[in-house]
Amino acid sequence: MSDLKIRNMDAADLTRVNEICALAFYGYYGKISLRTIENLESSLALYPRGCFVAQDEGGIAGFIFSRKLGSLGSIGVFGVDPCRHGRDIGRPLLEAAYSALENDGCTMIGLETMPDSLYNVGFYLKYGFDMQHPALVLEKEVKDVETSAGYDFAESSGPGGILRIGASVVEGLDYSVEAANAEKFGWGKTFFFKGLTGEGFVILRHVSIIEDQIAKSLFVRALVLTREDRNDLLRAAACIERYSQSLGLGNVTISASALNANAVRWLIEAGYRVVKTSMRMMRKGSYKLSGGIELSRWIM
Ligand SMILES: CC(C)(COP(=O)(O)OP(=O)(O)OC[C@H]1O[C@@H](n2cnc3c(N)ncnc32)[C@H](O)[C@@H]1OP(=O)(O)O)[C@@H](O)C(=O)NCCC(=O)NCCS
Repeated sequence: MSDLKIRNMDAADLTRVNEICALAFYGYYGKISLRTIENLESSLALYPRGCFVAQDEGGIAGFIFSRKLGSLGSIGVFGVDPCRHGRDIGRPLLEAAYSALENDGCTMIGLETMPDSLYNVGFYLKYGFDMQHPALVLEKEVKDVETSAGYDFAESSGPGGILRIGASVVEGLDYSVEAANAEKFGWGKTFFFKGLTGEGFVILRHVSIIEDQIAKSLFVRALVLTREDRNDLLRAAACIERYSQSLGLGNVTISASALNANAVRWLIEAGYRVVKTSMRMMRKGSYKLSGGIELSRWIM
């Protein structure tokens, strides 16, 4: 079909976006999983200027979400109706999201994809992304977490804490929008840590993003610590595990890029297991740590 138009996504598109998303990922995961409308609404609200659909006389054929965390722009979730793969619908969607992030001043623009998907890796390489770091999803079953005194969660660290802590680890990184989104849409909470040698915060999601599925895991969207210190990390993890236990969630899930090699090793030693691998690819800038630990998942 002709006359494909790329336009900004709006809330009325989300039911069709959800269908395309489920169909597009069926080929990879072998199952149809619809996302909750709340997940899609909150994802759209994170950065509406960078979310688009591709539409022609046949209706919506593809979609792309992106988000902006200060200097970092990340792309995805992204999908095209499988009946129409390979017909130049993904490319203009990707360009639209990339341009929005670039025009908005992101100095780093990247994404996470499945390293074993030849199509995705080839597609992103063709459109200017370079392979960067492997990223891992780590999970631990939570039971009988020791409640040692001296370190805990705090609800606040004063104004600007999220930006100050984030930017001290990665230049210009700002999770404030994501923390506010968690609060507004009720999918999660942000906590700061008390009693560590450095500062830190965590943004946690306690609801499932999949329709009709009860959350089994407390999902760490971002864990940022100003010091790369084994004790700080393990104490932060213990706070998260304790909170998970208090919510009745049996697992904690933490994602980490290989840039955080020490942190990954410390989490594995503490009983975390790798449950998924992804790959980060960048088209602009380079994602570097200036110190500390930054554990996050770029896919929404
Ligand atoms: C990934 C996706 C969004 C791309 O959209 P699309 O409309 O199929 O892609 P386009 O038609 O715009 O681009 C296809 C181009 O990618 C490139 N490409 C694909 N496979 C490739 C490979 N193995 N090696 C090199 N280049 C490759 C080719 O240039 C191809 O065009 P060509 O065959 O005419 O040369 C879509 O395939 C999709 O929905 N996949 C399932 C969901 C998914 O994995 N989403 C991304 C998660 S990170």
